Amino acid sequence: MFKNFHFPVALAALIAACGTQPEPVGNVPEPQVVNVYSHRHYDVDKQLFADFEEATGIAVRVIDADDDQLLSRLAAEGPNSQADVILTSDAGRLGLCKQAGFLQPVRSEVLDANVPKHLRDAEHNWYGLSMRARVIAYDKNRVKPTEVASYDALTGPRFKGKLLVRSSENTYNQSLVAAMIAHFGREKTLDWCKGIVANMARDPKGGDTDQMLAIGEGLGEVALVNSYYIGKLLTDTTSAKQKARDVIAVSYPGLGGSTGTHVNVSGAGVARHANNKENAIKLIEFLSSDVAQRVFAEGNMEFPVKSGVAAAPAL
Ligand SMILES: [Fe+2]
Repeated sequence: MFKNFHFPVALAALIAACGTQPEPVGNVPEPQVVNVYSHRHYDVDKQLFADFEEATGIAVRVIDADDDQLLSRLAAEGPNSQADVILTSDAGRLGLCKQAGFLQPVRSEVLDANVPKHLRDAEHNWYGLSMRARVIAYDKNRVKPTEVASYDALTGPRFKGKLLVRSSENTYNQSLVAAMIAHFGREKTLDWCKGIVANMARDPKGGDTDQMLAIGEGLGEVALVNSYYIGKLLTDTTSAKQKARDVIAVSYPGLGGSTGTHVNVSGAGVARHANNKENAIKLIEFLSSDVAQRVFAEGNMEFPVKSGVAAAPAL
């Protein structure tokens, strides 16, 4: 629009125009917006926001940041923060946001109906919108499904030098370990961590997908990864991932006792100092709706939280 903008001429025209333009009559409504602070890192979110804009006419402005940046930004901005919605992965992070006073409780019949009780904050500060399981990806030519039926199986002699996992600095691993501590205590969990380190095929490096690519290269037989990365790998058509795609299968291991596979949520809450609170609630409600839940499932291979919406077939 401002291509070929010739400043002095254009400025003169603008000044002239200002002098002759009639004053607007009555209140001109502010354009409807919602400001989202996000540290989700998925393309599918852009599509969800565009769908919301189209459905409601409310413009979505996104500020992307990594975990630490987002939290320190919210702390620094305090009451002056522009954030209306905080969108993030990991229940631990959502809990930290609540603890730090970055969120406010909201009541919504839609959210209460769409998000099961165990996947949202009991005091209504945040709502889980999608789920991911921390699972075992394994080489189906070398490993039997019965050998990877539990997380404990990864620490036995069977997988000495065969295990691939990203760094323990990563939230996904920390949350898995936190769940184990909650269920079984520190001592047993520490033993498990030592068993994992003892079985590593190499020093941890890369993300979850890199661990599966390493299995494709024959560097190991089992890897701890988030379920959506497996779904993405299995539906990827690029030749670079062909070797991994040909051999990877997924096991949903038990945590121990009668406890099933460890899952976590990605979710959102309304920011404490939101200027557009109603729009913020509308956006979170939209993300919990059937149409958005299907996008989480099919577009990002996350498990929907709303009952009745199917998971992606690849998973
Ligand atoms: Fe991720």
